[in-house]
Amino acid sequence: MTLRVLPESLINRIAAGEVVERPAAAVKELVENAIDAGAKRIDVTLRHGGKSFIAVTDDGVGMDAAELALAVLRHATSKLADDDLTHIETLGFRGEALPSIGAVSRMTIASRARGAAEAFQITIDGGRLTAPAPAALGPGTRVEVRDLFFATPARLKFLKADRTEFGHARDALSRLAMAHPERAFTLADGETMRLDLPAAAADLFQARRARLAQLFGADFTDDALSIEAERDGLRLSGLVGLPTASRRTADRQYLFVNGRPVRDRMLVGAVRGAYADVLARDRHPMVALFLDAPAAFVDVNVHPAKTEVRFRDAGLVRGLIVGAIRHALAGAGIRTAAAVAQGALGAFHQGGAPGAGAHHPAPGLAEAAARFQAPGPGAGEFQGLGPPQAPAAGVPADEDSSAVAYPLGAARAQLFDTYIVAETAQGMVIVDQHAAHERLVFERIRAALDAGGVARQILLIPEVVELDSAAAEALCAHGEELAALGLLVEPFGDGAVVVRETPALLGEVAVEGLIRDLADEIAGLGQGLALSERLETVCATMACHSSVRAGRRLNAAEMNALLREMEATPNAAQCGHGRPTVVHLDRADIEKLFGRR
Ligand SMILES: Nc1ncnc2c1ncn2[C@@H]1O[C@H](COP(=O)(O)OP(=O)(O)O)[C@@H](O)[C@H]1O
Ligand SMILES: [Mg+2]
Repeated sequence: MTLRVLPESLINRIAAGEVVERPAAAVKELVENAIDAGAKRIDVTLRHGGKSFIAVTDDGVGMDAAELALAVLRHATSKLADDDLTHIETLGFRGEALPSIGAVSRMTIASRARGAAEAFQITIDGGRLTAPAPAALGPGTRVEVRDLFFATPARLKFLKADRTEFGHARDALSRLAMAHPERAFTLADGETMRLDLPAAAADLFQARRARLAQLFGADFTDDALSIEAERDGLRLSGLVGLPTASRRTADRQYLFVNGRPVRDRMLVGAVRGAYADVLARDRHPMVALFLDAPAAFVDVNVHPAKTEVRFRDAGLVRGLIVGAIRHALAGAGIRTAAAVAQGALGAFHQGGAPGAGAHHPAPGLAEAAARFQAPGPGAGEFQGLGPPQAPAAGVPADEDSSAVAYPLGAARAQLFDTYIVAETAQGMVIVDQHAAHERLVFERIRAALDAGGVARQILLIPEVVELDSAAAEALCAHGEELAALGLLVEPFGDGAVVVRETPALLGEVAVEGLIRDLADEIAGLGQGLALSERLETVCATMACHSSVRAGRRLNAAEMNALLREMEATPNAAQCGHGRPTVVHLDRADIEKLFGRR
């Protein structure tokens, strides 16, 4: 074998292997160039998903003939003025995209520099260059890429169906468009316009919101919370979805660092961590998060496609993200995604045409209606959850009619010993008392832990629970942690434990069931994992065996106390798995059901 330096055309084709993975990557590079060129409007046209044709037209600063000739040379860039890789403010900096794309396709670049009277164009065909020649074009740049990968048939074979490639390209463009809402973008598939994103005016925050709504519909933004946080020179802003608007895949998670769309494990992990208490592991929130940091804080020179970054202090970034999202979620209180109510209304509609038979109540309906009467106000305190929160000023808690003014309203009925139906000023709510109670217990235990420990109550008669010896041992091995959670468990001979104290906030507890379930859970924990890492499951188990849960009849005072407690509790709108605890139905929607609107 002869040792030799590879010819330029081959080097470029090798680089293309990394930089231009598929048509979407070429689209991304060309649109990034347009953004770096200060374009206010960027139009993209694809044919066959970009396989046969990609055109990107912009109204940016453009290039003169000499710049055109340079732009297609390897490692030629106008973006590293001072040889400093630690202060990159542009999307591009490697000077690789144009020569790489040109090495594996037939590319034409036409450009007219700002203020120049005429345009020039240049072509590269499988790496072969022509000299710049005069062309007709308005101010800006137009890059056309034909027959991508014709020069590298191996890569061509790996491309997917047109529709799939188009989808990837659309996604790449959408991500850039999200980060740059002040610019207009269009995407056409052949003759058909597929995306039309006019420049969003207004301040950056409003503009981002508008851009996200343009891309995903108002559902995305309606079911999301605003994030605004700053720490040590880092700024985080954007939108995060309500837990009840979660999805089966992470396809709606968009993360940006200094205007650059990134896929970063650490960032994704931080988002997951922030939602850990309100979503099941197989559910994924929608998020669009924009992190702005001083250029020197971020190393973008990590990956040829520039989709990965490193942070000088990853812990700081993680803390900022987790803190900001948790804060927003806690503040969302009893809000659930619009789809929750929509789903409920859809189910009602399936029961028959609205208004049908309205004047002829079926036999038995009167009796059923009678059962719907509000139970009389009881004096009892809501057992197991302590005294209800102090009512808001001017709204006495015990006056049924004024309780309607609370966000979760006045309890009117309990259904199936499981659901609380309440009337609110806007309509009605249905609360899953079991799911809600789980959440309340969890939040209370967490708050108590933060404050130094969970108060315990001594059982009058300690309860002995028989388990097998392995389970008893495993349980007692976590004895200290359980004690911190309010549960005092000690070994009691071989294969048994004795429970002496239980968390006071649980009220009356079905001890045996609780201990058996906890033992199962601890067996499933695996070696060395702390209970605190599964706090939410443990709390859910505790809640399950306490006095308030599905299948327990509550009186009006107890129901109202539960509603008031939910209003005062962070994250109360969903259980630990992201299922809603409450469904809101607007009065207008209810009236529609009966054809009154
Ligand atoms: N759309 C465009 N408008 C103006 N200049 C451009 C455009 N696209 C590319 N250029 C010029 O060509 C150079 C090389 O582009 P590229 O190969 O993508 O490398 P990089 O973007 O990393 O600099 C850029 O630095 C820029 O000067
Ligand atoms: Mg570039």
